[in-house]
Amino acid sequence: MESPVILKILHNGKTKEYFVNKQDKLHTDLGILHLEELKTKSYGDKIISHLGHEFTIQKPRAPDFFKYAKRTGAPMVPKDIGVIIANTGLCSTDIVLDAGTGSGILAIYLGSIAKKVVTYEIRDEFMENARQNVELSGLLNIELRKGDIAVEIQGLDERFDVITLDTAAAKEVIRHIPGIIYPGGFAVIYSPFFEHAKEIRCELHKINPGEVITLENIEREISFGERGTRPSTARVGHTGFITIARF
Ligand SMILES: C[S@@+](CC[C@H](N)C(=O)[O-])C[C@H]1O[C@@H](n2cnc3c(N)ncnc32)[C@H](O)[C@@H]1O
Repeated sequence: MESPVILKILHNGKTKEYFVNKQDKLHTDLGILHLEELKTKSYGDKIISHLGHEFTIQKPRAPDFFKYAKRTGAPMVPKDIGVIIANTGLCSTDIVLDAGTGSGILAIYLGSIAKKVVTYEIRDEFMENARQNVELSGLLNIELRKGDIAVEIQGLDERFDVITLDTAAAKEVIRHIPGIIYPGGFAVIYSPFFEHAKEIRCELHKINPGEVITLENIEREISFGERGTRPSTARVGHTGFITIARF
């Protein structure tokens, strides 16, 4: 089996996991693992440390890339990606346009469902990092393109089922969407601030798609402790507003 893989162990009631990629050895507090052994293993097999602890080998999935892939900035978080997938009905025949690529996390989630994802990133170094993350994901249906989406969208002669914009440039992009989206397709714009979301709504109003909603998804983890069960007291931070327009 090829890297990357997740190595997982339950020890003293706690799960520990490691995302490994192309290393020879992994040093853990439960011993050293010789990773060339992975070549002869399958997912679900065990690999044993020199102290005799057994680690299970798992195939990484999109949430593992959110947790472990190298980041160039803030990737979109799974709770918000879920809102996009659910509200657009993303499916295996869809062609998606995404910008900016950032760390490529949203593109990896979308690419694990859709037929194809075309994603634009303006910065060379971010693009290179995203290219490595996409390569690690093993997905072959994600096409990374270098460029300013506000300019590139004007020359596109492709059409898309779903368009995701997670960039401050979204405002300049919206007016070009009707020319490249299939009838019935969805555009999703992610806004960190109310002001940005308002600007996006104003731009959308000018081109008047059929339905537009703006959502904030508040997620609460439930903690199960000896004293009782309740929503976690850890701070619930704001992530973004998600505007979804159907064309
Ligand atoms: C918040 S990040 C996107 C994160 C991404 N959705 C993810 O899940 O990893 C925004 C990205 O947009 C890029 N960007 C900014 N302006 C752009 C433009 N005009 N065209 C393309 N990319 C742009 C930035 O360089 C940055 O990498």
